[in-house]
Amino acid sequence: MLAGRNLIEPSNLSIEELDEVFSLAEKIIVDPSAFMDVCKGKILATLFFEPSTRTRLSFEAAMLRLGGSVLGFAEASSSSTTKGESLADTIRTVSSYTDIIAMRNPKEGSALLASKYSSVPVINAGDGGHHHPTQTLTDMLTIRAEKGSFSGMKIGLCGDLKFGRTVHSLAKALSRYPNNEFVLISPQELQIPEYITSQVFRAAGIRFTTEERLENVISDLDILYMTRVQKERFFNEQDYIRLKDSYILDKEKMKLAKKTMIVLHPLPRVNEIAPEVDTDPRAVYFKQVKYGMFVRMALIAKLTGAL
Ligand code: NCD
Repeated sequence: MLAGRNLIEPSNLSIEELDEVFSLAEKIIVDPSAFMDVCKGKILATLFFEPSTRTRLSFEAAMLRLGGSVLGFAEASSSSTTKGESLADTIRTVSSYTDIIAMRNPKEGSALLASKYSSVPVINAGDGGHHHPTQTLTDMLTIRAEKGSFSGMKIGLCGDLKFGRTVHSLAKALSRYPNNEFVLISPQELQIPEYITSQVFRAAGIRFTTEERLENVISDLDILYMTRVQKERFFNEQDYIRLKDSYILDKEKMKLAKKTMIVLHPLPRVNEIAPEVDTDPRAVYFKQVKYGMFVRMALIAKLTGAL
């Protein structure tokens, strides 16, 4: 039963519940008009204390396409946070006006905190460098559509594995399926946090290797997940400038990859994928954007109890 539940990190949903969401998303893709009144009369709040293009707009588009309405803010400066209001009080207030809340906040753990004070379901749309479960649902729906399975994959996670919350959520989610192997491609300074290698990979008996050079491993991969260096989470501008162009996926590197490999990216991209790669059929990051809206439609419909 998904109605009334929160989504703070991917493991809040069982594998069966994830399948339920993906199956509904696939039904919506086939016939979106059949779902256009499903959330009629319901309101989604989008509380974005941090910038966003895709996540916020895809949540809003999802609710509007289900026939519901949307309110919220796109920056903290237009909320009472600037007057010193606590997150708890903001959430108590917003949850008395709405049926479901999607929140992005720079503080790790803020979504969990919000869920304690909310009388309606809270969806974590990114809490600092911690988790971003709806991006993971997006990534997984894309993998399901393009590869047909979440198992037996060699997955390259490339870029800022330290601060990239989408990486943390995806690593955690795909570690629940059998026979996956991760290749962690990053500069030394941007390696994946220790808690992921110990509490996620080792705990689940998942094989992983670390690598600094993408070209050394790209030919082995089934999935390549590129990420941006997370400028906003650096303490020091010089470090960012030094590391920002660590990886650039271009046509030359794509020549080394399998014909069946797919390239995902949560977006926004900065320099890490050259635009010349966009027309390669293996580049699925713009399809991924569309899957993101459909999977959010399915999630909203389930958590609000509309379906
Ligand atoms: C990601 C995020 O916000 O973590 N973007 C997104 O939601 N699609 C990735 C990023 O900002 O690099």
